[in-house]
Amino acid sequence: MNLIEEKFILQNNNFDKNIEGSFTWRTPSNIALVKYWGKQEPQIPENASISFTLDACFTLTTLEYKLKEHEESGFNFEVFFEGEKKDEFKPKIETFFKRIEHYVPFLKEYEFVIKSRNSFPHSSGIASSASGMSALALCVMSIEKKLNPEITSDYFYKKASFLARLGSGSACRSIEGALIVWGNHSEIVGSSNLFGVKFPYKIHENFKNYHDTILLVDEGEKQVSSTVGHKLMHKHPFAKQRFLQANENISKIAEVLKNGNLKEFIAIVESEALSLHAMMMTSKPYFLLMKPNTLKIINKIWEFRAATNSNICFTLDAGANVHVLFPENEKEIVNNFIISELIQYCQEKHYICDRIGLGAKEL
Ligand code: DP6
Repeated sequence: MNLIEEKFILQNNNFDKNIEGSFTWRTPSNIALVKYWGKQEPQIPENASISFTLDACFTLTTLEYKLKEHEESGFNFEVFFEGEKKDEFKPKIETFFKRIEHYVPFLKEYEFVIKSRNSFPHSSGIASSASGMSALALCVMSIEKKLNPEITSDYFYKKASFLARLGSGSACRSIEGALIVWGNHSEIVGSSNLFGVKFPYKIHENFKNYHDTILLVDEGEKQVSSTVGHKLMHKHPFAKQRFLQANENISKIAEVLKNGNLKEFIAIVESEALSLHAMMMTSKPYFLLMKPNTLKIINKIWEFRAATNSNICFTLDAGANVHVLFPENEKEIVNNFIISELIQYCQEKHYICDRIGLGAKEL
């Protein structure tokens, strides 16, 4: 354990624990521009990644807590999702609690009720682990702050990101906004493998209010979980090269985010999306997560860009849905294009209009 990890261990656990109540956090999803794909234990990324924090896609979680009345060795919690008791969600949360217990040793002293819901349909193929785990991590940090009001806001958010990472890697990028880097990188001051940090340089006006319209091509359970996908990078023939490429793309995109060069932005972001899928297509076993309509949409975007010189582009996560990215000053022409040309390729014409957001909020 290094010094930074030690800093996140609650040093003094002798607080007056006899408290009860609830905390509610609304935390956003995020979309990576340079992707995280490949990790080591404990949730250490093989390369740095950077994401836009979203706004309309979020999880809302309430954590009710009460000091246990009787001695008991394990974690005690119930989970409700969209109003229904969900025992099938418990193992994932139990694993998360086990991983973070060392840093928040009061967890076993309370009984919890977790009540959660997403702003997007559960079956939409949009990963809810980022917003779900970050919401829970923030609720846990609110309890820590209640026990120990001395902690600074900087420590609060850093540790929330640190804990969220132990739940799901990309969740550490769902605490703050608007652009978050996770993973050590020599050109990003303050970057860390242990938590996400705000992009530390001035972001060009071109990226203000950037849009992300998510086209739901395939609503359903993911074919390959990201946990399995990350593992496949361990023996992947192109892994080393991929991690180098991603870190180089972080250097390139850092410049672009400062200078506002949208053509260069598009080249990096689309290449990242296709490289991510190329990794899945060349692993053992191999996966093809794009659907025919994913490719139709990509080709339509390329045709439209060639014809209009628009700065529209796409990115993908580990699935068939397409994230259509475009600047604020093109929203009318791109929205018209999406409605007239692209939504026909979505399942039941479903899509979600989102944009770059400012991070989690306590309610
Ligand atoms: C393709 O964060 O979901 O979305 O750490 O195993 O929970 P775990 O994986 P997860 O992986 C996200 C992968 C990605 C790319 C990205 O968001 O950077």
